[in-house]
Amino acid sequence: MSKIRAAITGVHGYVPDYVLTNAELETMVETSDEWITSRTGIKERHILKGEGKGVSVMAIEAVNGLLEKTGSDPMDIELVICATITQDMLFPDTSNVIANATGMKNAFCFDVSAACSGFLYALTTGAMYIESGRYKKVLVIGADKMSSIIDYTDRTTCVIFGDGGGAVLLEPAEEGVGIMDSIHRSDGSGEQYLYQKAGGSRFPPTLETVQNRDHYVTQIGKPVFKAAVSGMSDVVRKIMTKNELTNEDITWLVPHQANKRIIETVARMADFPLERVMINIHKYGNTTAGTLPLCLWDWEPKLKKGDKLILTAFGGGFTWGATYLVWAYG
Ligand code: UT7
Repeated sequence: MSKIRAAITGVHGYVPDYVLTNAELETMVETSDEWITSRTGIKERHILKGEGKGVSVMAIEAVNGLLEKTGSDPMDIELVICATITQDMLFPDTSNVIANATGMKNAFCFDVSAACSGFLYALTTGAMYIESGRYKKVLVIGADKMSSIIDYTDRTTCVIFGDGGGAVLLEPAEEGVGIMDSIHRSDGSGEQYLYQKAGGSRFPPTLETVQNRDHYVTQIGKPVFKAAVSGMSDVVRKIMTKNELTNEDITWLVPHQANKRIIETVARMADFPLERVMINIHKYGNTTAGTLPLCLWDWEPKLKKGDKLILTAFGGGFTWGATYLVWAYG
């Protein structure tokens, strides 16, 4: 009997309406459109405004769009995994909130927290429930409301991040398409370079943690940049070698959108022309777990059955990885 593979059979994304431009950031912190554009490639990012609106607001929009476009009955979804580091609340998991709001009442749900690699980790996890034969319909979401943990007085982080996300449906694949392989890595020694200090059990919230601005993202950019470039180019090369792929075989490289310079360097090191690299960082910024599904959503109209894609991500943890898949429709 041939191996069951999981295929992405639909993707949908969502970004909130409010657009935070580089020009507006210039009025908030000491920065310039020139610095942001040349150092990161970002022109604008979307921000979810409104009191009491968590990441689930965006994920619910993406999931409803996905269920509708794939003609799926929410009651048929058996598992929901949401990758996010900006959960609505510390518990319950946001996947439960999303499933409840979208009518996926037969699913069991959990969140995955792997920062910018979250979607890739969740995709592999979801795929394994299909590959094992246990489930036939798994929904994987990657979304973040980064504006909820960003210090808008810190110019080194506030220009980079945005809000948004997307969702994919996984089903058993036809022969020759679907998720073929993935490589994942973690290195906890990277904790010192990218973290949100307070709010967890090590530093629970106090007046002092709030006054120290410890509930916001801290990033030491340069070491993260270097580790992101070497981590992603290493796993991209490894997954290609393991699957006997040359870069001519790959239709699209789909990298996490953290910095256009990182994307260009990874593409150059893996010898991919930029015409075959998905880049949308200029309009969304870094949406953490949201970047990869937002890329797939933007490119979905162009994708054809049989296209070979390599997805890669790097983020806080450190966490990183690459997934090789053959697109299943279009
Ligand atoms: O997605 C998860 C993983 N994250 C990443 O992959 C991000 C990796 N890191 C990066 O993308 C880059 O390191 C950043 C975009 C965060 C920063 O770019 P950089 O080229 O590494 O700049 P830097 O931190 O070395 O700062 C260079 C200068 C500094 O000034 P001095 O010390 O040279 O006078 C900064 O203070 O740029 C200054 N600077 C800014 N200037 C204007 C930092 N942020 C800004 C800003 N506007 N927004």
